[in-house]
Amino acid sequence: MALHPSLEPIAALIGTWRGPGRGEYPTITSFEYTEEVTFTDVGKPFLHYVQRTTSPEGAPMHTETGFLRVSAEGVVEFVLAQPTGQTELAEGLLVTAPDGFSCELHSRVVNSGSAKQVDATIRRLELTDGTLTTTFAMAAVGVPMTHHLSSELRHV
Ligand code: HEM
Repeated sequence: MALHPSLEPIAALIGTWRGPGRGEYPTITSFEYTEEVTFTDVGKPFLHYVQRTTSPEGAPMHTETGFLRVSAEGVVEFVLAQPTGQTELAEGLLVTAPDGFSCELHSRVVNSGSAKQVDATIRRLELTDGTLTTTFAMAAVGVPMTHHLSSELRHV
């Protein structure tokens, strides 16, 4: 099954990634976690994404799933859902580099469902030299756009 040509610039994402993460926000106690992310090619012009996180004690924490695609104009579009009803549609330009790529995705739509109020998000993905670095910031619960998460993942 050939990879859809639109996915070639992000083909290196396909597979499972794992590594440590750290979270903070002005309203909460900082925390550490392990993150596992899988991007799957299903033979269509998008990758299926599943993310799971666990606490240092091994208890399940945040999880989310969604779809990642790249438009003809090089815009990365990430549509995401969380078990709480929170959904996001985030977009940003793909920047390719000799040993990877980066993109900064800004939310176009956020729906908080029954979860705490989130007004906007910024997700950054950077693949450099075999390491996938993610960062996440949000404007939420009355706090302006502020860093919440960062993780550093390696292919497993
Ligand atoms: C709060 C973990 C991703 C939105 C928290 C808290 C933890 C946490 C431990 C504190 C909970 C508490 O003290 O009651 C994580 C982990 C994530 C993740 C491990 C993924 C790696 C996200 C995402 C969003 C989000 C993707 C939104 C799109 C929030 C909000 C709060 C929160 C709104 C509440 C802040 C408050 O109550 O003041 N998160 N989170 N989190 N998180 Fe996350």
